[in-house]
Amino acid sequence: MYNEIDLNTIDLNQAPPTEEPARQYYYIAKCREWVRDYEQKNGRRPRSCVVNMGCQMNARDSEKLEGVLEQAGYEKTTREEDADFIIYNTCTVRENANKRVYGRLGYLHSLKKKNPGLEIALCGCMMQEKQVVDKLKKSYRFVNLVFGTHNIYQFAELLSRTQGSDRMVVDTWEDTDKIVENLPVDRKYPFKSGVNIMFGCNNFCSYCIVPYVRGREKSRRPEEILDEIRRLVADGVLEVMLLGQNVNSYGKNLDEPVTFAQLLRRVEQIDGLKRIRFMTSHPKDLSDELISAMAESKKVCRHIHLPLQSGSSRILQAMNRRYTKEQYLALTEKIRRAIPDISITTDIIVGFPGETEEDFEETMDVVRRVRYDSAFTFIYSKRTGTPAAAMEDQVPEDVVKRRFDRLLALVQEISREVSSRYTGQVKEVLVEEVNGQDAALVTGRMDNNLLVHFPGTATDIGRIISVHLDICKGFYYMGTKV
Ligand code: SAH
Ligand code: SF4
Ligand code: F3S
Repeated sequence: MYNEIDLNTIDLNQAPPTEEPARQYYYIAKCREWVRDYEQKNGRRPRSCVVNMGCQMNARDSEKLEGVLEQAGYEKTTREEDADFIIYNTCTVRENANKRVYGRLGYLHSLKKKNPGLEIALCGCMMQEKQVVDKLKKSYRFVNLVFGTHNIYQFAELLSRTQGSDRMVVDTWEDTDKIVENLPVDRKYPFKSGVNIMFGCNNFCSYCIVPYVRGREKSRRPEEILDEIRRLVADGVLEVMLLGQNVNSYGKNLDEPVTFAQLLRRVEQIDGLKRIRFMTSHPKDLSDELISAMAESKKVCRHIHLPLQSGSSRILQAMNRRYTKEQYLALTEKIRRAIPDISITTDIIVGFPGETEEDFEETMDVVRRVRYDSAFTFIYSKRTGTPAAAMEDQVPEDVVKRRFDRLLALVQEISREVSSRYTGQVKEVLVEEVNGQDAALVTGRMDNNLLVHFPGTATDIGRIISVHLDICKGFYYMGTKV
């Protein structure tokens, strides 16, 4: 859609349209006019820098921010020091994500003293927290623009209000049921892309802030998703990652309900698309239908990310995860029976309130039994407003740290063993980049998400190549083209 809209035909003397996305295109045209003026005065275009601090969902949102900035005529930079407009797309899932932002803001303030025209914007999940916005308004008045996750589609309009102004614009919404389609996107990779299939989360795991900052679960209509993927494929994309906090509950609230497995089967039929990934699967909603759809598919990658969080049924209950240790183990066995070569990865939290040594041993036990290809391990972080924050029995820091180290050591030991199981085989690798350390090598991913480095050139980027896996170096392979 958006590439059919000619920004030059928009009449800025008219009032802005009220419907979306037309309204945002009007404001992009308006921003572009400001950029032209800027260029005339300064002999160069303003430079923008988008910093992504969150998960894949946030990364996709950042591509939407980039899309607007690109259409408005900004020149892209990755160096904050060179930028005239900096936007942080924040995360707040753990406290340290939050702290990092305040730390960086001090630095941005110093940049602004050198370049008074610098405009600073903050958006993303952290901006959905009232106490954060209050603090910014009180002590960080040099920030020009603050908005949240629900009104990110209004970025062009908000940008236009900020350009050349030194007022602080703050606009955050509590929730929305609106999904605005067809806004510009500037992808990071030409050959792969994230695709949102749903927004928000209804699960309210007791430790997690995401439902509060991302709002209630909303699914996009399958036609919109399929159209977007077809356009991406026409534009050179080989691999898509379907994104949602809990993809297994996709489509339940649509006017005409569709299951995630049905959606996958329809995505599979798109010609030219080679690989399909998805994230994240909540174990409680993973259906047999999905397992069959994966097993029968030629395009769905042999990889599933299945967050465990804890191996103790007692802790799982306190976490409101709605499955037990036994159910989780049975599920992984069922998946492996149907898809024997599948890679299983996970997320684990250590130190949830009330976690005893026995509970922690249950987690270690699951790790030993499932033998994850890899696992993200997190120290429990108390998030204000979540039920777990009010729980007694918060585990002392030193105890958590010791458990965390033991878990990490076990996860890495197993991951190293499991990852090497393909040595000597030939696998298809989607090449992503020239290797950062050795320019004679390129780096790509196998369908189970493992990295492979092998001799190649920049012309291999974006191609799927058969590679012989010569040797496993722990978490990646060295290979040669066959
Ligand atoms: N929707 C996904 C997870 C999104 S958040 C799911 O349900 O699996 C990504 C990961 O961050 C979670 O899986 C969890 O392991 C971790 N996480 C979330 N809240 C946390 C907290 N308060 N402290 C520590 N880790 C947390
Ligand atoms: Fe958070 Fe649970 Fe929702 Fe995942 S499913 S985003 S962990 S509340
Ligand atoms: Fe993602 Fe962090 Fe938000 S994990 S959904 S960016 S709080």
